[in-house]
Amino acid sequence: MNRRNFLNWVSVGTIATSLPIAIAACSSKETTHTPQPQEWQNVGTSNQLNANGKLLAKNTSVGEVLVVKTSLTNNLVAVNPRCTHAGCTVEWKNDTNKFVCPCHGSEFAIDGKVIAAPATTPLKTYAVKIDGDAVLIQ
Ligand code: FES
Repeated sequence: MNRRNFLNWVSVGTIATSLPIAIAACSSKETTHTPQPQEWQNVGTSNQLNANGKLLAKNTSVGEVLVVKTSLTNNLVAVNPRCTHAGCTVEWKNDTNKFVCPCHGSEFAIDGKVIAAPATTPLKTYAVKIDGDAVLIQ
């Protein structure tokens, strides 16, 4: 094998081994994510909720869920009560209709949006309903 044949052989080999990597790098990164309908899940009873106007479920498939009856509209609201600043558990303030974090004072509206820093990310919210005696979230 002379020098020219050797260089041709090496360059063809290099292209052949790089081709799958190049194809993978150029392929679309899009995923075909289709949102799956989520099941309603039971987080407690309406008697537990009515006892003091709120219900904290600690072991749901989405983690902790706090369900409260708001005095403003008497509607139900369900949130993940972990403060998005540093993870303390927020408390519902019925007199002001907001969630307040006891650690650094972040405040969140009924819909989970931040209304006072230091948190900058809203609380995760869930749909909530009463079905018979069950409190269900989705
Ligand atoms: S952990 Fe809630 S404000 Fe810091």
